[in-house]
Amino acid sequence: FIEIKQLYRNKEQYIDKTVRVAGWIRTSRMSKNFGFIELNDGSFFKNMQIVIDEKLENFKEVGKLPISTSLLIEGTLVATQNAKQPVEIQATKIVVEGESDNSYPLQKKRHTVEYLRTIAHLRPRSNLFSAAFRVRSVAAYAIHKFFQDRNFVYAHSPIITGSDCEGAGEMFRITTLDLNNIPKTEEGKIDYSQDFFGKEANLTVSGQLNAEIMALAFRNVYTFGPTFRAENSYTGRHASEFWMIEPEIAFADLEDNMELAEDMIKYIINYVLENCPEEMEFFNSFVDKGLLERLHKIVNSEFTRITYTKAIELLLESGQKFEYPVEWGCDLQTEHERYITEQIFNAPVFVTDYPKEIKAFYMRMNEDGKTVRAMDLLVPGVGEIIGGSQREERYDVLMDRIKECGLNEEDYWWYLELRKYGTATHSGFGLGFERIIMYLTGISNIRDVIPFPRTPKNAEF
Ligand code: 4AD
Ligand code: MG
Repeated sequence: FIEIKQLYRNKEQYIDKTVRVAGWIRTSRMSKNFGFIELNDGSFFKNMQIVIDEKLENFKEVGKLPISTSLLIEGTLVATQNAKQPVEIQATKIVVEGESDNSYPLQKKRHTVEYLRTIAHLRPRSNLFSAAFRVRSVAAYAIHKFFQDRNFVYAHSPIITGSDCEGAGEMFRITTLDLNNIPKTEEGKIDYSQDFFGKEANLTVSGQLNAEIMALAFRNVYTFGPTFRAENSYTGRHASEFWMIEPEIAFADLEDNMELAEDMIKYIINYVLENCPEEMEFFNSFVDKGLLERLHKIVNSEFTRITYTKAIELLLESGQKFEYPVEWGCDLQTEHERYITEQIFNAPVFVTDYPKEIKAFYMRMNEDGKTVRAMDLLVPGVGEIIGGSQREERYDVLMDRIKECGLNEEDYWWYLELRKYGTATHSGFGLGFERIIMYLTGISNIRDVIPFPRTPKNAEF
């Protein structure tokens, strides 16, 4: 069977020839002597129109088939006068592979995304999710291509880990201990020596610390894999399981880091615009009317860069009332981030040099002793999509920070040794994969950009 995508993209090659396709009925319209079936075979966002008439042996039967029935079709590809559907297939033979049922829920009307989430096993067949998940696939490829073309090494970081990179205590604990009979030490603590891992183990919140190890051997590396956060938050931007891209670059400071991030974001946008034109057109028409214009503008402009201190000043000057009051030292909340990027700049904004108290232990301390070389990238519509920093490469300063943050220095012996054996200026960041897909598609809920979202109390399918 030939892919419908091929029949559209290379139509000249197939017009007036016999072709065979296999797919599912999306809709059909029947008259007495002829009819049209919109067939989707998954290879392409658009359907192929199949024309059937009485010459077809099983014309009557085929005309009555329910939506989602799978068909094997032989026919002639013919050119039409319709620019949107420049070709169609005049069917000469149709075999019914799997007949559907009239109870099929995706009938030809619009469903709410909330309803579609309850049928995650069928929603990839809808236009919205078909477009979203293909863009997700193409964006993933774009990211690998971006880094591989620049000679970055793809480093696989572990999913099971003993360390909490972000120090935020948002880890899913994993254990082989019998929860009904947890072994205890003499001091009454959990006896991990009897556990499979011999010590406390968790699902990773970030591959960064492993990426740093690799960067100090390969110079430029990136990770791309699932990460986990046990935050009990029901927002449209947080998932318990999400994918993160974490480049780490040696002999590079925060300026280099921001440059890399900006190049990467623009590359991904351009790649998806070029390779998913039908899907992007669909999002622009049905999800977010200004999407294409906005994305085109972004790839052709420079991202703004401001310090955290400046961001606080601007927020205070704006006179805007926020749910969480703004003062120097506060963590920026989504409402603040969105105000900065949407109302003040209406463009992507890097915010740098945050107070050390609200950032992780590994970020490089600034001369002022109060702020660290952090960067977050904020974008309209989503808020934070990237978090990163220049790393603390000085052994003594890092040791002080580990202690100051109340972390156990023994747990970080290997991380400290990287600063002992040929330390180097290095930087990196994490891009939330779902967040960039939201940004690319205009889809406003993270549950709708990942096929099987994991959020609190949601692990069906
Ligand atoms: O800002 P975060 O927590 O940074 C790190 O984990 C660093 N170790 C990254 C690094 O420097 N290598 O997370 C990075 C990004 C965020 O900007 C956001 O896009 C995404 O990961 N993210 C989430 N995405 C979905 N659901 C969640 N619960 C997320 N938490 C973070
Ligand atoms: Mg962050």
